[in-house]
Amino acid sequence: MNPGSLLTMKDLSKEDILNLLNDAKAFSISHSDWRFPVSSQEMTANLFFEPSTRTHYSFLSAENQLGLKTVDFNPESSSLTKGESLYDTVKTFEAIGYKVLVIRHPEDEYFKELENIQVPIINAGDGKGNHPTQCLLDLLTIYDEFGRLDVNVLICGDVAHSRVAASDKEALEKFGAHVRFAGPKEWEREGFPFSDFDESVEWADAIIMLRIQRERGAVLESLSDEQYLEKYGMNKERYARMKPTAILMHPGPVNRGVEMDTDLVESEKSRYFKQMSNGVLVRKAVLRRALGFKPFGRVDV
Ligand code: CP
Repeated sequence: MNPGSLLTMKDLSKEDILNLLNDAKAFSISHSDWRFPVSSQEMTANLFFEPSTRTHYSFLSAENQLGLKTVDFNPESSSLTKGESLYDTVKTFEAIGYKVLVIRHPEDEYFKELENIQVPIINAGDGKGNHPTQCLLDLLTIYDEFGRLDVNVLICGDVAHSRVAASDKEALEKFGAHVRFAGPKEWEREGFPFSDFDESVEWADAIIMLRIQRERGAVLESLSDEQYLEKYGMNKERYARMKPTAILMHPGPVNRGVEMDTDLVESEKSRYFKQMSNGVLVRKAVLRRALGFKPFGRVDV
């Protein structure tokens, strides 16, 4: 594996994570010194084998802002339709000169079959396995708010199918955060024991609501959307019981009126759209690392 690859949060030490958050903060400063010094010849490719809005287009935004030349792979008009494998598709992008490959794929740990690929791979989400750049933007959002990461975090909803829950737990616990999970019993996952949701709402500094991943088979036949919101969602009654300083997050896309009351999506405590803006910053930092650049070093932000 190329040392610039980022497949899971296990690939990053605490120091690596802090360097990436620091670089992301540096990119938020409007100062030409922090511009990315890349040659106009550097080419990256975004290979999304699964739908995406935030991750795909924030990588595109990051790549454009960094001055990289970027192409988007379209599986439906590619030789995948003739039976070409994932490995041969990715190896082809390497052979024809792309220097970084951003890949999202529905298979858990799809990257295990790509061990012979030499160019850096950035995992933009694998099945229900990992979503490291979403994790980094969540860490940045929490750090922006509290100036530290050892806070109480509640992750609630469809934990069983969530790559965000897995990556966030992995990283947050490295930094001494206390992480609790809650949601319907059907979606409890080994290693992620559920706590009482209503009690944890008052305990948490950051609450991350998760989308019901219907495309991965998550259904609760017995509950309507309104009943789900009442029982497991962030409704106005629970919102009113959050700590005064607490924040509300969601990786997106949000099912309004299901995981969250629609009025809370842009409420005072919500950082839903701030997370997306932070996504561009962390993806710039991750792309810069993938191309072999050293961290900027401490920046006074
Ligand atoms: N958070 C996230 O991965 O959203 P997209 O599926 O829109 O990329």
